[in-house]
Amino acid sequence: MSANLKDASLAAAMPSSTPFNSLYNLTAPAFPSLVQAKSATWLYTSAAIVISLLALEQIVYRYKKRHLPGDKWTIPIIGKFADSMSPSMQGYKKQWDSGALSAISVFNIFIVMASSNEFSRKILNSPSYAEPCLVHSAKQILRPENWVFLNGKEHLSYRRGLNGLFTRRALGMYLSIQESITRKHLTSWLDTASKSTEALPIMMTARHLNMDTSLHVFCGKHISEEAALEISEKYWAITQSLELVNFPLALPGTKVYKAIQARKVALRWLELAAKRSKESIASGSEPECMLDEWVQILNDPSYKGRREFSDLEMAMVLFSFLFASQDAMSSGLIYGFQHMVDNPEILAKIRAEQDAVRQGNYEKPLTLEMVDQMPYLNAFVKESMRVKPPVTMVPYKTLKPFPISDDYTVPANSMVIPSFYNSLHDPSVYPEPDKLDPERWLSAEGSASTNPKNYIVFGSGPHRCIGLEYAQMNIVLVLATAAALMDMEHEITPLSEEVE
Ligand code: HEM
Repeated sequence: MSANLKDASLAAAMPSSTPFNSLYNLTAPAFPSLVQAKSATWLYTSAAIVISLLALEQIVYRYKKRHLPGDKWTIPIIGKFADSMSPSMQGYKKQWDSGALSAISVFNIFIVMASSNEFSRKILNSPSYAEPCLVHSAKQILRPENWVFLNGKEHLSYRRGLNGLFTRRALGMYLSIQESITRKHLTSWLDTASKSTEALPIMMTARHLNMDTSLHVFCGKHISEEAALEISEKYWAITQSLELVNFPLALPGTKVYKAIQARKVALRWLELAAKRSKESIASGSEPECMLDEWVQILNDPSYKGRREFSDLEMAMVLFSFLFASQDAMSSGLIYGFQHMVDNPEILAKIRAEQDAVRQGNYEKPLTLEMVDQMPYLNAFVKESMRVKPPVTMVPYKTLKPFPISDDYTVPANSMVIPSFYNSLHDPSVYPEPDKLDPERWLSAEGSASTNPKNYIVFGSGPHRCIGLEYAQMNIVLVLATAAALMDMEHEITPLSEEVE
């Protein structure tokens, strides 16, 4: 830089024969030098800023992490982004095993992973410090005004209004819908199987059964077969868009764009169903589905909550149920099938129980009382979801500094991720934790039954799954019907036990 300036002043001092010459001497050599000088200044300044920011990134990371286990240095800018793009159970287990609390950073989001039951439950039960944090695309897909994004008192009061949709009376009504949809699907599975000599993949087939069941439980006769099929087919775009990091703009062609289009289709049909349900109850019909039950509750003179819900708002609530349940229920059901068929001695016990409860009459519709008389199957479903939890963790974010332990405070605006897996595989509560052992639930004095705080398959605290009884009942019902009516084989592959 200084050499160039020297050149310029030398040229200015040289004697010149013509004004043109002197101008030439002055400006021509000086211009490129000044440009070079400026660009070099820029370069050095930019480099200094970048180096300072990178250093600051490391300092902030180490300041937040303090003594927690985790990398001493974070990979500049992206952190553990590469790992988060292809997560594996082994990777998570390694992280959980590193400590009850451990730290990582992804794209400068500071993340504390909690592995112990104590810390996981503390996160789930501290609503003033932490709230659920869905992936970024969730707000675009569900719409920001959806009730699931409420927190604190507002959330509690809204949720209280929805509890009436999951009472035992309501569940009894849903049971007959679930059973007829399940029988319809199992008949079609058998028909397909009779035309094929090869094993067929179950994932999308079971997923479709779940979607059909949910839509009919929610909307009953107010949703057409055409609508149920269209929502079921389009919904896959929503599952695919739920990635940790998405392209930030929902431009045509992106996954989030496709998911938003799918949501629009679903909401249109659900809104129409809400309208029809209101008309049906107004005309004096008895409730036949969840929407009818809801409208009936709102019309009850003794009801104390808010009464006005637009068709769209009701549709958004039903959509939140689909969103929260579709993948977890499918995973729970598919592992249920796998665990049942891979263990013939368990399948034999399930069948013996079915024979006892149904007393040889396999056409008789199931009732809640009959489901209550299936303790072994209920224990099996509970155990199946313990061994392979459909939800392994739920990300939360801190609203303010969160003093999670005596010697560590999670900084505000961090992610805190309670693990469910470790609580469900704690050998002191579940000896031989990887073993599928329904019997461990059958004794009221056994350590599984006496430590309910460890069973966090459905979460804990104010956001605990609102549909847990319905979900457990649905998986029980499908497996009960399948065990009673079908022969099944599972073609085991090297990937059968892998969690994707
Ligand atoms: C096997 C099936 C299911 C599993 C494993 C499951 C699991 C979970 C978990 C872990 C949470 C988060 C809890 C927390 O943060 O503490 C949750 C929340 C939720 N679940 Fe489920 N769920 C299932 C089925 C369902 C069904 C069938 C519905 C509705 C019909 C449903 C509706 C919801 C809703 C609305 C929330 C959010 C509750 C709130 O924020 O207040 N889930 N579920």
